[in-house]
This record gives sequence, structure tokens and C-alpha cells, in this order.
Amino acid sequence: MGKDLIKVGMLGMGTVGSGVVELLKRNSDQIKEKTETAFALTKILVRDPSRPRNIELAQEIFTTNPDDIIEDPSISIIIELIGGIEPARDYIRRALQSGKYVITANKDLMAAHGEELLSTARENKRNIFYEGSVGGGIPIIRPLRHSLVADQVKRIVGIVNGTTNYILTRMAQDNLNFEDALCQAQKLGFAEADPSSDIEGRDAAYKLIIMSGLAFGFYIDPGQVYIEGIGKVTREDIDYAREIGYVIKLVAIGEQLPDGLALRVHPTLVSHEHPLASVSNEFNAIFVEGDAVGEVMFYGRGAGSLPTASAVLADMAEALRCIRRQAVNGVIEGAKKQASLIPIDKLKSCFYLRFLADDRPGVFAALANVFGDEQVSLDMVIQKRRVNNTAEIVLVTHMVVEEAFNRALEKVISLPAIRPNPSKFRLLG
Ligand code: HSE
Repeated sequence: MGKDLIKVGMLGMGTVGSGVVELLKRNSDQIKEKTETAFALTKILVRDPSRPRNIELAQEIFTTNPDDIIEDPSISIIIELIGGIEPARDYIRRALQSGKYVITANKDLMAAHGEELLSTARENKRNIFYEGSVGGGIPIIRPLRHSLVADQVKRIVGIVNGTTNYILTRMAQDNLNFEDALCQAQKLGFAEADPSSDIEGRDAAYKLIIMSGLAFGFYIDPGQVYIEGIGKVTREDIDYAREIGYVIKLVAIGEQLPDGLALRVHPTLVSHEHPLASVSNEFNAIFVEGDAVGEVMFYGRGAGSLPTASAVLADMAEALRCIRRQAVNGVIEGAKKQASLIPIDKLKSCFYLRFLADDRPGVFAALANVFGDEQVSLDMVIQKRRVNNTAEIVLVTHMVVEEAFNRALEKVISLPAIRPNPSKFRLLG
């Protein structure tokens, strides 16, 4: 075992930070043996050191001054768990510049400024590890960074947000409406007090950007990613989807297409036969398709204190090994070029559409004309019930470019017999 003690500092002690401390109490001897390294967590940045905590720690370990960690030359590794962009970005940059290794689980920061921080790491011959930023305890960053580096990744399809997956599962399995399912998720601690980033799909988009950067070798401006949350998913749509052999999931899709890169997050009808269809509750799964390896799936707990702490401490172990072996910075990513994404309206999908229409002769004929004019081919049509004296119609199209489908949809909703506000979702192709 390396005899020099390697000191670790931690910024923030919320849910994940408490998990890190708990897991260190449980497993630090094992980590020391496996890395052949002596280490200790010596300082933790908190807002209020006197706040009662579940875990027993000496008061001297806490500080309210970030410089006690960032500027301390005896600390070699920093674990950043405060989240958000600033001041986390400034702390990480300064830590790298002063020769420290950085571990972070901060997906917002890595999605928006990952390339800049990795470049600072390269310049300073250090590294930044971020396994905890995507999929909680599921190993996905390291596989994309190391194990699949010889493959051309064609596609990443993931359920990467536990909150929305829990809500959609409860809506489907317990017939709950959206508000009740969200309330239940919050009571069980799966959803944050402010769940807007989860519900609106931004959390999943940040994770998709991080994975796509590694898989496709580009960095991506978050503003270019098409994002649609789950707010418009209704129980009616979930029931119809089930009837035709699908389940609705919030899916993040990154694809290397012949014309370029496409990234999107939206509620998606996933066939019951697809492995992602059985990923329920707060679980996450990521399906990667490579040209050599074929299809690989990663599945597990995508959030939570101990699962994310497991990823954070695995990153710490990698940093310890770098220091112990004097490997300078271990496996570091090459510089990436900025991607220009294909806009959603140029992509092809099959679409699900549900709307209400007057129940009288000629309505289907008018619909058929509109879809025919825009070369939209229908795969399935259901009309089986009346709602408030109108007919409820559900259609599924064959593959069609989104802008052609949207043109048809505009014409459909301008027909006098058709009620406004249809439900529109894409199918996983
Ligand atoms: N809020 C996220 C989720 C977990 O629900 O999956 C942290 O990324």
C-alpha cells in the first residue's frame, strides 16, 4: 500500500454527499486494499456545520469556506457535490489549476461546460471524473469512455430520469393521473420539491448530452437538443398505447445518422418487445448500439444517495490509482468538436395521434385526403368510443419526416369536424 496519505475534500453534503460519507464508513478499507492506497476524507464544505446530521463526523471536518479545500495544497482530490453551474464551475476550474483531481456528479455543469472543464484538466495534466452525473449508480460513463471506445456508436436510447419513469409507471399500473403520481413520487423521495427539470425533460437532456459527447466525440450546445417533457401524457394515451402493444416512456435518443447527429428527449411509445419497455419505477436503463459490439444495455438505480455515492467513490478510486501509479491523469478524453444537430422536423418517426372529431359521414374521407396529400401513410386507425358526443380517433403512421407529418396535422386540426389539441407522440423506431 502507498504509504503517503492522499487527502480528499468534498464540496457539499446533501443527499449524495451523505451517501459518500456512509459508504466510506462501510467500505473504505476495501477501497484502500483494492487501490493499494491510503486515503482520508479530511474536509467537507457545508453551509451550516451545526446542522444535525444522521452520520457522526468530527466538527473539525466541516468548513464554510471553500478555499479551505480548494486552496489547501495537501488535498489532492476534490469531490464536487454542490450542483448547479456557479460557483461549482469556478471551484472545479480552480481545483484543476492547482493540480487536484476532480470528481463530480453535476450533470448540468458537465452538459453545459464539460468540454471547457476537460480542457482545463488536460492543460493541467489532471482529470475530471463524472460517473455519477448520468444514471446514478449505473456504470455508463466509464464504459463509453473506456470499454466501447473501439466501436462506432450508432445510437444511444435511454430512460435516464427516475422521477418521470416512476410517474409514468404509476400512471400505467395504478391508473393514477399525472398530479397524483407526481405527489406519490415526491412523498417517496423520488421527485424533488421542484421537479420541473425532471418533468420538462431537461434533466434527461443533460444526461443525453454527456453520454453523446463520449459516444460520438462531439460537444453539444444544450439549446440545440429537442426537449419535450411528460406534462401532456394522459391516462387515455397510456391505455391506447397499451392496447396497441406499447408503453409510454420518457426516452432520450442520440443518433449518428448519415446526415449528422440528432439528439432528442420526448415521451415515446416503446414496443412491449423492446427491453426498455420493462424498465419500471425509478429505475434507469441505457441501450447502446455499436457497430462491433452490437446492442448493450446498462440497467439499475439511476438516482439516490448510495447508488450515486457508489459511482462517486469509484471515480475517487480511479483518481487514487492515478496518483498512486503516477499515471498523471489516467484515461483522458481527447478534445471534441462542436456538433451541429439535425433539427427534429428533419427526422423520421412513426407518430401516434389521438383527437376528437364529429361523428358524421365524410370525416374519415377528409382525414384520408389530408394524410394522402402529405404522403403520410397510416399504419393503424382506431375509432371505438364516443366522448361528449364526439368520436375519439387514434392513428399510428408509418415512418414519415416530421415536417411532413406536422403539415398534415395542421390541416387535420383546421378541418371543421376536428376538435383542437390532439395528443401527438413518437414511436421508438
Ligand atoms: N432527478 C433525477 C432523476 C436524479 O429523477 O432521475 C438525479 O439526476
